[in-house]
Parts: sequence; C-alpha cells; structure tokens
Amino acid sequence: MAEIIDGKRISQQIKDELKEKAAALKAKGKTGALAVIQVGADPASCVYVRNKKNACAYIGIESLAYELPEETTEEKLLELIAELNGRQEVKGILVQLPLPQHICEDKIIQAISPDKDVDGFHPQSVGAMTIGAPGFLPCTPAGIIQLLKRSGVEIAGKHCVIIGRSNIVGKPMALLMLRENATVTVAHSKTRNLAKLCRQADILIVAIGKPQFIGAEYIKEGAVVIDVGIHRNENNKLCGDVKFEEAKQAASAITPVPGGVGPMTIAMLMSNCVQSIEEG
Ligand code: GUN
Repeated sequence: MAEIIDGKRISQQIKDELKEKAAALKAKGKTGALAVIQVGADPASCVYVRNKKNACAYIGIESLAYELPEETTEEKLLELIAELNGRQEVKGILVQLPLPQHICEDKIIQAISPDKDVDGFHPQSVGAMTIGAPGFLPCTPAGIIQLLKRSGVEIAGKHCVIIGRSNIVGKPMALLMLRENATVTVAHSKTRNLAKLCRQADILIVAIGKPQFIGAEYIKEGAVVIDVGIHRNENNKLCGDVKFEEAKQAASAITPVPGGVGPMTIAMLMSNCVQSIEEG
C-alpha cells in the first residue's frame, strides 16, 4: 500500500519558509508586489486567482489584482503589461491562462519582462532552464521536484516516464527531471503501447488531461506516481488522471487529488516572487 505524498503539508512548509524569508527581506528594505491579471471570469481561473492572492497575503507580499472584462483587446492587455514592466515595485507579472480566443497567448507571454516572469513561461526563461542558466522555473514542474525531494524519493538514475508534452507541464518536467539525473521518457497521445512503457517507470508523472485514465495496469509494483490532472467527476467531486484507489495498491508512493500537486504550484509561484524580490 502506497505512502500518500501530502502536497498540502509540503506546500505549507514551503510557504512558511518563504514567509520568514520575505520578512527578512522586508527588514532589509526589499519589498515588491505581484501583479495578477485575469481577463474574463472563467470559474476555474477565478478560484486559482483567488488562491494566488491569498497566498501572497499569507507570505506577506503585496498583490495587485487586475480583473479585466472578457472583451478586453490584445492591445489594451499589452499596454497594461508594458506599464507593469516599467513599474519598479512590481516584481512579478502573472497573466492567468487560458485567455479569451481573440487574444494571442504567445504574444502576451512574450511581452512580460523575463525578470518579472514568475510563471516561467517566457521563451527566455524556457531557454535558461534548458541550459541550466539562472531564471524562473515553471511552477508546476518545479513543485513536483520539491514534492519528490521532500518526500525522500531518490531521482538520480531512476527511469521517469512523463505522460504529456505540454509547454506548461510535460516538456519542462522532462528537462527538470534530466537536471536531477533521471533517465527520462516523454509519452503522449501517439505513443504506442502506453501501458507497457509506463510499467517500466520508477517514477510515473501523469499529465494526460483525461479523468481517471491511468489504472493499475500502467503501474510497476513499487513505482512513485505523481498525478497532475484535476477534473470534476460525475458526482462533482475532484479527481485526477489516475484511478487513485487502484493505483495506490501497486505504487510505493502517490499524490492524491486534491491535495497533491495543486497546492505545490502556488507555493512555487510564491517562491519565484520571493526570488524576484531578493534579486530586485
Ligand atoms: N492556468 C493554469 N495553470 C496556470 C499557471 O500555472 N499559470 C497561469 N498564468 N495560468 C495558468
């Protein structure tokens, strides 16, 4: 039976460390704000944005909320980002995704100054991560590395299979696991015989985006399973990409949904903000 990797507890530990660090920086006169921009009122985005603002308050960082109407033009949004790029006290800029159809996400991401890119999505941040140069790391993959390390999971030399190749999770996850000396395989929707491949994983990271898709037949006895998915099932309860009850019989450690990867994303966003205040 698997050990449950408690993302809520580990994220709280990280936030408490950051709270102390932010207070020490403040004592040295180093402060700064995170600007959080939301366009439209997607219900999931509203929850995420609220959680981000609450986390800032907890750590002791100022947050500036920009809640813009759905019909905001790309030009207006670019103007706001340019203004925030130029403001000294703003140390982080976060534009909540997804954006409405009429706004080009890539253009917006590229408009954010890399030294305020606390999401780690700017091509310069991605390039720096790829070669191991300093820069902001994307929050979800960085949070997963922290979950593994703080749960005592050894990464070096292990075979890590990642299901999913998105720019936000799969691709950066592969690079960060490589940096930790794992042997990495990236699987995706065109991968043949996915279950057989996954059964070779010592660490299985699932970001497939399909509710409760991964069952026991994908999991090697004793593997560590990280579930990045978050969905609502037919009873309106939160669930992940993994069939948790089944998977925990085979795994040696597993993250639950909710309370696994989710809270870590926000903790790492706060970590990037504190890093930006420290460097700025
Ligand atoms: N939407 C879903 N996840 C994220 C994230 O990590 N950052 C931003 N900005 N938007 C998101």
